[in-house]
Amino acid sequence: MTFRTSLQTLAAAFLLLAGSFATQPLLAQSTLIQNAPGRRVLSLNGRWNYIIDPYENGFYDYRREAFDQSKSGKGGYYDNAKPSTKQETELIEYDFDHADALQVPGDWNSQRPELLYYEGTIWYKKSFNLQPKAGKRYHLYFGAINYEAHVYLNGKKLGMHKGGFTPIQYDITDRLNPGGDNFVVVKADNTRRPEEVPTINTDWWNYGGMTRDVFVAETPQTFISDYKVQLAKGNMGQLAGFVQLTGEAKANQTVTLSIPEAKITQQVKTDGEGRASFTVPARKLTLWSPQTPKLYAVTLSTGTDQVQDRIGFRTIETRGADILLNGKSIFMRGISMHDENPLIPGRARGEGDLRMLLTWAKELGCNYVRLAHYPHNETMLKLADEMGLLVWGEVPVYWTIAWQNPATYQNAENQLSDLISLGKNRASVVVWSIGNETPLSEPRLKFMSSLAQKARSLDDTRLISAALELHRTPDNVIHVDDPLGEFLDLTSINEYAGWYWGGKPSEITKYTFDIKYNKPVTISEFGGDALAGYHADADTRWSEEYQEALYQQQIKMLSTIKNLRGMTPWILADFRATRRQHPVYQQGFNRKGLISSTGVKKKAFYVLQEYYRQLAKQYDGK
Ligand code: GCU
Repeated sequence: MTFRTSLQTLAAAFLLLAGSFATQPLLAQSTLIQNAPGRRVLSLNGRWNYIIDPYENGFYDYRREAFDQSKSGKGGYYDNAKPSTKQETELIEYDFDHADALQVPGDWNSQRPELLYYEGTIWYKKSFNLQPKAGKRYHLYFGAINYEAHVYLNGKKLGMHKGGFTPIQYDITDRLNPGGDNFVVVKADNTRRPEEVPTINTDWWNYGGMTRDVFVAETPQTFISDYKVQLAKGNMGQLAGFVQLTGEAKANQTVTLSIPEAKITQQVKTDGEGRASFTVPARKLTLWSPQTPKLYAVTLSTGTDQVQDRIGFRTIETRGADILLNGKSIFMRGISMHDENPLIPGRARGEGDLRMLLTWAKELGCNYVRLAHYPHNETMLKLADEMGLLVWGEVPVYWTIAWQNPATYQNAENQLSDLISLGKNRASVVVWSIGNETPLSEPRLKFMSSLAQKARSLDDTRLISAALELHRTPDNVIHVDDPLGEFLDLTSINEYAGWYWGGKPSEITKYTFDIKYNKPVTISEFGGDALAGYHADADTRWSEEYQEALYQQQIKMLSTIKNLRGMTPWILADFRATRRQHPVYQQGFNRKGLISSTGVKKKAFYVLQEYYRQLAKQYDGK
């Protein structure tokens, strides 16, 4: 569990202090700095020495006691111990400096053949030199570590974090070595567990390790730690938001919001907690949309700090069956995607990978992407802002979660809070999804409805959704009456007629839909596998022609849904998945991609592209 509240942190610190005087108290995982990558940073990307530790010998002694909970707090690999004499008087059975290195950011599975299926602990170590400046604070920031991370600086524990797709951040100002030489050690453990989020079964590769950027961000002692600058809910002529300062001098500070191109300059004063809310008239804005992805230079400044961001302004809401972007009804022409580069299978490693994926989506004719099934890199959201793509963001509350475990719920809520915190200033983000294909039960409904309410409390300016459950009856009616639908703004469903059920593509137009809610409907998934280059007739599964026919028939079948206002077929590109073991057609890949794992566009790509061209003409008049 990540220490989130000051009370929990104090309790943890007391327990640690009571137990041992050698280890310093854990640091609270500090509230994520908004737009941290936009700060002055010391990058720690690059080669990190690593040790594979399936028995966790670097964490537990031979009686399975955690070294970092012992009286001395020492003994684990995080000491980065070195022999003090040439004779190596002390017995030390590890040595990072003579160990091999992994590239960070990057999952370990795709970097070493022997690690392709590895699930367990790998230790990472990196030395760095940082000469701290007076009046500055330093924040160690990991874009994501899958799944559980224990972080140590200069042999002392900073904290533990769970969640494989959201940032981890510690204020290390008081933990840096005066001389400037420091080393950070991370215990990354991607072991799947039933009570975690996601749980033990998913349909994606369990890529482990430090999969996103790592850096140390510098801020003033008192700095702008968080802010939101967006249009007020449903009001195209008014900005609303807040700014939060952190540091001793956070109270009673004047903060200036400046958007020169919109001729906006507004000053606000923070309260005793360092927070100030604001509303600002904004009449002459060019509103953000996929056709005109207008971004404004926004500056927030105090006497000691200044942050810049590029922010788009738009409204998103629903009215009956319609989704209204800036008050105009739209159709969300989307595609689903994983955070994976199919050409070099593994977690997307940086902006190049992300830009390639979104460029493919644009080529398909999309104005929308579903970033499944977990928080993607925050760079992805900035690129979507810039390229004009609406975004569905999601937490990995996927399939058979431990609905009755309070720690599981808290974990899901933590990940949802981070997802929303990271995306709240991104015009492209229009949907927060609280989960995917979760089986009906009372505990599941309580868990998911609480998550929906939490999402709405954190951000009432965006739509809340989830991939709901459906059921079929012998009269070929597809019923959508999942009780979770009551709590959502969009009725979204994954349906696999023509692949998992319903016969061949030519037979699926027999289905009709009975949807309980009078809300906009989006099809969050449909699709089928095709091995690129395998050609046969339209009835032959795994062939490109079968997938092509499936898309043609799905479009026909779905067009009968009068409230249909969007879709994100599954999926842009083939991706690695351990469930997919057919040695001829799959080879460990889920082949539902419209683009193969070698970048080849399959025939179905062009079916969807043509459909989206027609929809663009119908809705956007172009
Ligand atoms: C499910 C699930 C996806 C999965 C897909 C499939 O609906 O949401 O994560 O990959 O179907 O079966 O290919």
